[in-house]
Amino acid sequence: MQRRPLVAGNWKMNGLKSSAAELDKIIAGARQLVNAELMVCPPATLLQEFATAARGSPVAIGAQDCHVLAAGAYTGDISAEMLKDAGAQAVIVGHSERRRYHGETDAMVRGKALAARRAGLLAIVCVGETRAERDAGHARPVVRAQLDGSLPEPADDLVFAVAYEPVWAIGSGATPGRGDIAEMHAFIRQRLSARYGDVGQGTRILYGGSVKPANAEELLTIDDVDGALVGGASLKAEEFLAIAAVCG
Ligand code: PGA
Repeated sequence: MQRRPLVAGNWKMNGLKSSAAELDKIIAGARQLVNAELMVCPPATLLQEFATAARGSPVAIGAQDCHVLAAGAYTGDISAEMLKDAGAQAVIVGHSERRRYHGETDAMVRGKALAARRAGLLAIVCVGETRAERDAGHARPVVRAQLDGSLPEPADDLVFAVAYEPVWAIGSGATPGRGDIAEMHAFIRQRLSARYGDVGQGTRILYGGSVKPANAEELLTIDDVDGALVGGASLKAEEFLAIAAVCG
């Protein structure tokens, strides 16, 4: 089945108003792409401005987290509806930094994925094992449990994408070998197909963790790798576009 590759940049807690110039460069470069869909996920403070700048361009704008509920007494939180209202088209949920620093459980991540659907946003649901879990031979069961617990029941194939991000590969410069990525993505595909049928076949599975221009070709040409979730390298338009160029 044909799946349109998605290359999404997770800016994390980086970016000020002055970063709009970098977005402009990304928008200009995105016009050269024919195949890949490009997305930038800035901090919430920049969502509205970025969404306005990207309107009518091939670049989609996404957020990095959302609350489970639509509104209420939750100081400091932002709902999926608010993200949509600010111009977001997608939201990352269950990133390992949220799971680790904010104690997010699979059940919470699932609630956020459902909130994204309720608001009409694409959820990018992150899963991935730690180094210790991989070394102990538990990478698959860990990812399986995260998939089982975090994914929503979809109505159509635009509801979510999965990002496989081994925790130990994020920001470290280390990546799994091609064989390990191929094996995990095939496993995730098999789980998605078993649970969702055709929808599971059409769901994009992104790889994330230290994707750079230098390794993009090696990492993003593997079967069942339908694009990338890029952290550090997405902050520089030139590097981000070089990665996206691998997907066409
Ligand atoms: P990285 O981050 O590309 O800087 O390793 C990826 C991510 O956390 O999504």
